[in-house]
Amino acid sequence: MMKAFFMRTGFFFTVLFLSPLLLPAQPRGARNSGAANPLGLTEPVIAEGRQLYNRSCTMCHGIDGELGDRAPALKGTRRFVRSSDEDLYDAIKNGIKGTLMPASPLPENDVWKIVAYIRSMRASAFDAPLEGDPEKGRAVFWEQAGCGDCHMIQGRGGLLGPDLSSVGVQRTSPALREALTKPRPHIPPGYRPAKVFTAAGEMVEGMIKNEHNFSLQMLSRDGRLRLFTAEEIRRIEYGERSLMPTDWEQRLTPEQFKNLLAFLSRQAAARVKEQGLVEEDLAR
Ligand code: HEC
Ligand code: HEC
Repeated sequence: MMKAFFMRTGFFFTVLFLSPLLLPAQPRGARNSGAANPLGLTEPVIAEGRQLYNRSCTMCHGIDGELGDRAPALKGTRRFVRSSDEDLYDAIKNGIKGTLMPASPLPENDVWKIVAYIRSMRASAFDAPLEGDPEKGRAVFWEQAGCGDCHMIQGRGGLLGPDLSSVGVQRTSPALREALTKPRPHIPPGYRPAKVFTAAGEMVEGMIKNEHNFSLQMLSRDGRLRLFTAEEIRRIEYGERSLMPTDWEQRLTPEQFKNLLAFLSRQAAARVKEQGLVEEDLAR
């Protein structure tokens, strides 16, 4: 239904704007028609777009949107020359004149799928909310998985991990999935686990928040902030692995995992404050 509607609108705009120009495909002509991706930005569309992209585009662009041998990376956070759906569509369908970027012979629908895929690599998880039941995901977060022991959302929860109140607008969906399934190559600053052995014979386990020549600030596992001077410390044992578990795909059922991601992708406290969105908007 929606699809048919958009296709017709797209057609209407194309006729309206392009016919006077009498050119088969004018890159700049369609610019202001406001056409968004008629297929939407849903997970199945993105998944098909990814396959098409990795099949047709990686002889120049890199696999999964990374930098390629002969063309720029299409994912990432830099400002892109082409950022609207229709500009991307146009670049792929018609190529970019004067550059190596060729016009693609793929059918229209496949091009839109690739557009969705490129957008998903750039958009925050909140912009392309993941499928699944966020309400059930909420229960996974607080109850079944116990994420709240270490993470805070909207003022509730633990302090050992980063606050996740706005993680949906700060991260892309693939980044969220990765956070739950792959150890990071480096422990981010402020989250390095360690044990401090004091001259007084105490052992405190926690995470190093700040470390200078003369002092060390640590968040202990029981959530207290401790400050040690160099004289008080006898020995420090640094942990090699982050406290963040990354085997959630094994620990949770596929259903729980999916619902948890759906819940995380909708955490957008910062966005709510900026734009005055209400709960119903977030539950969409
Ligand atoms: C023969 C090599 C080649 C192939 C194949 C190719 N590209 Fe490109 N593409 C390029 C080059 C080179 C550029 C940079 C053009 C420029 O300098 O503006 C580019 C630019 C782009 C841009 C614009 C990037 C921006 O930020 O504006 C998009 C989008 C794009 N390509 C998508 C694709 C897709 C999707 C496919 C597969 C259907 C594809 N390309 C296949 C070489 C290629
Ligand atoms: C034992 C404490 C602990 C538990 C339990 C835990 N985490 Fe974490 N988490 C951390 C720490 C510490 C970090 C920061 C260091 C890192 O990324 O490796 C982190 C990082 C993250 C990040 C990355 C945040 C960002 O801004 O990139 C996400 C997302 C996340 N956790 C989600 C979860 C979810 C969802 C659960 C439950 C399924 C969970 N965590 C359970 C401690 C924990």
